Amino acid sequence: MFATRVALGALCALLLVTSAVSQPARQQNSMPASAGGLDGPAGNGARIYFTGASERGTTVTSTSAANVGGGMMGGGMMGGYSQWLTCASCHGPQGRGGTHSMHMWVMTAPDIRYVALRAMPEMKGRQRPYGLDDFRNTVEQGRHPDGEEVKAEMPRWKMSEADLADLFAFLKALPE
Ligand code: HEC
Repeated sequence: MFATRVALGALCALLLVTSAVSQPARQQNSMPASAGGLDGPAGNGARIYFTGASERGTTVTSTSAANVGGGMMGGGMMGGYSQWLTCASCHGPQGRGGTHSMHMWVMTAPDIRYVALRAMPEMKGRQRPYGLDDFRNTVEQGRHPDGEEVKAEMPRWKMSEADLADLFAFLKALPE
């Protein structure tokens, strides 16, 4: 039951994303109402999280679509739209992650609310808390805080430093 609901949610998120981007500007707001009302950095972070577009007009791209699902996503099952996946498509509207099945591809994405990031097992014994550097390493370089490689299902992203910081601020603003 739960899994079905999550899968449905993922599908809706995906549809939302694909329908949002099929319109010309790719700027429209497809954020859920719950993400509204966030101003400043977290507000722009929410926009990036849900739509893949920054209010700054700077580009946010991902570079691993071809790796996802063992190579099937690039030109196969997901056709051309794997490039339109946003953080929300996989990590969910509240950042809590979950198991999604998209077409024939089943994937489990972790909880990435800041509360979860700072408590992940890789952080055990670490003196310094999970910070922007750790976040950058994961999101851009595909490295966990302990240096382990992040699975290929998680795209590698490129975005400006300011946008990355906004996104991190959004994860911190998510309800615990
Ligand atoms: C196609 C699905 C997908 C998309 C899109 C995606 N992620 Fe991920 N993400 C994953 C998966 C799967 C993992 C787990 C990888 C692993 O355990 O090695 C992950 C892991 C992470 C982690 C590490 C969490 C941890 O506990 O170590 C962070 C941080 C993260 N993603 C942030 C983001 C952000 C920010 C975005 C958007 C810019 C994003 N992800 C988009 C699938 C995705």
